[in-house]
Amino acid sequence: METAFSVIDLEFTYPKAKNQVINGISFDVCEGEIFGLLGPSGAGKSTVQKILTKLLTDYDGRISYFGEDLKSLSKEFYEYIGVGFELPVSFGKLTAIENLKFFSSLYKNQVDYNELLKRVDLYSDRNKKVCEFSKGMKMRLNFVRALLNNPKILFLDEVTNGLDPKNSKIIKDMILEFKENGGTVFLTTHLMGDVEQLCDRVAFLVDGRIAEISTPRELKQKYGRRELIVEYKEDKNIKSQTFDMNKLGDNQSFLTLLKEKHIETLHSGETSLEDIFIIVAGMGL
Ligand SMILES: Nc1ncnc2c1ncn2[C@@H]1O[C@H](COP(=O)(O)OP(=O)(O)OP(=O)(O)O)[C@@H](O)[C@H]1O
Ligand SMILES: [Mg+2]
Repeated sequence: METAFSVIDLEFTYPKAKNQVINGISFDVCEGEIFGLLGPSGAGKSTVQKILTKLLTDYDGRISYFGEDLKSLSKEFYEYIGVGFELPVSFGKLTAIENLKFFSSLYKNQVDYNELLKRVDLYSDRNKKVCEFSKGMKMRLNFVRALLNNPKILFLDEVTNGLDPKNSKIIKDMILEFKENGGTVFLTTHLMGDVEQLCDRVAFLVDGRIAEISTPRELKQKYGRRELIVEYKEDKNIKSQTFDMNKLGDNQSFLTLLKEKHIETLHSGETSLEDIFIIVAGMGL
């Protein structure tokens, strides 16, 4: 797969700030993949997205899109990317349609935003002023806005934040469809369920450095515990014991338990991405 963009030794300090926020990070994002940037609050995820989308330009290191230095790219760059900001950005006094008409006019490429509004279940609210929208409605409109120019690369900062499970699924399905059609996605999220469902690879950003970069599956293998939890009945009470899965067949106390007790349930103990997040975020690089 071709590299869509690559980041080499990126460093960044906000103007007038004392400390550097991004402390030398490097990674590649391949064309057609969904890449997740994860990490605790304040780690620098949104900052990285702002740098990658040319909103913050005073950085050190090199970023290139399909081999071309980001600093040398003209405004034409914005024709190819779609950006979903962390906090929804729309004109509150305008209706949803008026907002989309305006933002759409900034691009050469045009899409049928009425169709998109229907997909995210906002079509019947299209003539409502955005200041009368709920948080979830604003987030969905924000997502539609990111797709207005039929982009090749989507940057999504906490895109399902504040959405109910039904709407969250609609957005996730649309992200997967975008990928199926050849699009590349860079997203940040705190929601490990979203990571499981969407991301091909993830990087963990901790204190402005990359602590891990891998596939969700490999991370689970690396940090995962291989355990079997056995629940059994004893004197009318439910008790449980945890066994290491390695050499389980030779484990006498496990075999005795199976033979002598009434087994209620058997669970394999897989480390969740939430657990891994907490381990990696606490590594204190
Ligand atoms: N405009 C700014 N000026 C100065 N410092 C900033 C600015 N924006 C963010 N920061 C600081 O940069 C650091 C990283 O912030 P950033 O918003 O990138 O974190 P984040 O990982 O996106 O967090 P969250 O998960 O809460 O969205 C924080 O310490 C924050 O205080
Ligand atoms: Mg953020």
